[in-house]
Amino acid sequence: MPTDLPAWQRLQQHYQAIRDQRMRDWFAAPDARERVDRFSLEAAGLFLDYSKNRIVRETMDLLVQLAEEAGVPARRDAMFAGAHINATEDRAALHMALRAAPDAPFQVDGKPVMPAVHDVLARMRDFSQRVRSGEWKGHSGKTITDVVNLGIGGSDLGPRMVCRALAHLAGDGSEGRKVSGPRVHFVSNVDGTELAETLARLDPERTLVIVCSKTFTTLETMANANSTRQWFVARGVPEGGLARHFVAVSTNLEAVRAFGIDPANMFEFWDWIGGRFSLWSSVGLSITLALGFEAFAELLAGGREMDEHFRTAPLARNMPVILGLLGVWYRNVFGLPTSCMAPYSTSLELFPAFLQQLEMESNGKSVQRDGQPVRVDTSPVVWGTAGTNGQHAYFQLIHQGSQIVPVDFVAPLSAPRTLPGHHAKLLANCFAQAEALMRGRTEEELRAAGIVEPERIAHMRFAGNRPSNMLLIEGITPRALGALIALYEHRTFVMGAIWNINSFDQWGVELGKLLARPIEAELNGRGEGPHDPSTSALIARARSALARGG
Ligand code: F6P
Repeated sequence: MPTDLPAWQRLQQHYQAIRDQRMRDWFAAPDARERVDRFSLEAAGLFLDYSKNRIVRETMDLLVQLAEEAGVPARRDAMFAGAHINATEDRAALHMALRAAPDAPFQVDGKPVMPAVHDVLARMRDFSQRVRSGEWKGHSGKTITDVVNLGIGGSDLGPRMVCRALAHLAGDGSEGRKVSGPRVHFVSNVDGTELAETLARLDPERTLVIVCSKTFTTLETMANANSTRQWFVARGVPEGGLARHFVAVSTNLEAVRAFGIDPANMFEFWDWIGGRFSLWSSVGLSITLALGFEAFAELLAGGREMDEHFRTAPLARNMPVILGLLGVWYRNVFGLPTSCMAPYSTSLELFPAFLQQLEMESNGKSVQRDGQPVRVDTSPVVWGTAGTNGQHAYFQLIHQGSQIVPVDFVAPLSAPRTLPGHHAKLLANCFAQAEALMRGRTEEELRAAGIVEPERIAHMRFAGNRPSNMLLIEGITPRALGALIALYEHRTFVMGAIWNINSFDQWGVELGKLLARPIEAELNGRGEGPHDPSTSALIARARSALARGG
């Protein structure tokens, strides 16, 4: 129980001692520069300045002590050793193996996994090269111009985010690249609008579909896969020709075969990869098709560098550990219910959505590993969008709202395809937000600026003292992105380890899935299940609308 740990207790007392201290005073002190040096570090090409947090040296010492007392190093080592740390599903969580070198010692259940990992990588390399070069053709002999990834959750958010972030490498010809990849589309929702709108733009003879599902049973993905198959057939693709247009990414060979995809066109992964940690596996096939295998290999290299840092750096200089500890500090000691991810980059606009699944599906739990209630708050609500857009939408609340929201700013020092002058403006705004959150604006400063009316002062003063992290990355490169993703994966793990929960299962999503099946049957006029009166009335209303052709 985390609350039983001595450091947990001491952190609560320490909070009382520093809660009224102000960051702006710390930054005005003669040793302020030392504060910045002490509270910043570099790892895997990423630079983290965490000095604008409500922490002093003792805070970090206590937090590191908490990590030790909670057994974070031992749990990390167990994860790297392939132990079944996902106990409720009796599985390892070994996504690090997916980005490791061929001679890495990773094992699951006593068996080395690297040969299989590199086998699949070799198949992905070969396949992506064949599609991108035009050697792989549709049934009628035409080259593939469009790829549609059908998947949801971890089988969608990761590769979708990476393809968006690195779209400038897709080689659409505009930058004089020799090999252009196909356009890659992502369809996740069972709302038929998404699939219909996507397919409407495509030529079936030139379209390749990836059915991407770890289980190959997910309702949304299978519904989209079936409708896409009908779309091909309705547009004249013979059943025998479908093999040229469908490949599968899955752990479930039998279901892939039953759907009618040739196992030779299946790219395997394994049950020891959680969906939200899977973009490094064959789930990244869409990435290799969009960007080429070399970019994917660089992404893996970035993740690998962060793994090495996480595995070996002392806790006090370990970036995922520090970010995780700060997360716990705000969640459990300050009691803050949400945290904001603000990438100052249009390329990274999907990173917050990816992070939502990563953090909330991993750590949105109320039960400890031993089945006992957690008794402390676990994952905050994670939200955010790309800057500077958020500034003109919800940053008002972050500056002057009634609750504190810790912010993680991610700022690439260069941007792809930008325009003269834009990037300095973007970075200036990012740094200014962090500075404003920290400093606030005092009455004296307002008076000095000529604002003297008490009622104006009341509205215009900012309390400040609002925490943020600033993460700088050199640019939007596959390697930097790989390191960034792995950083947040490990941070999520660290937080889960301190809360003593299993970050790798997701039983909470099951009940809704289970209940949806009979409701769907009822909406289609079959059966009438016992429901609460509210749900029964909603079903009746929707059934009438559907019968009218809704
Ligand atoms: O419903 C949640 C979930 O199980 C996620 O954990 C997972 O990433 C997603 O559904 C998709 O699952 P699959 O890859 O098996 O289709």
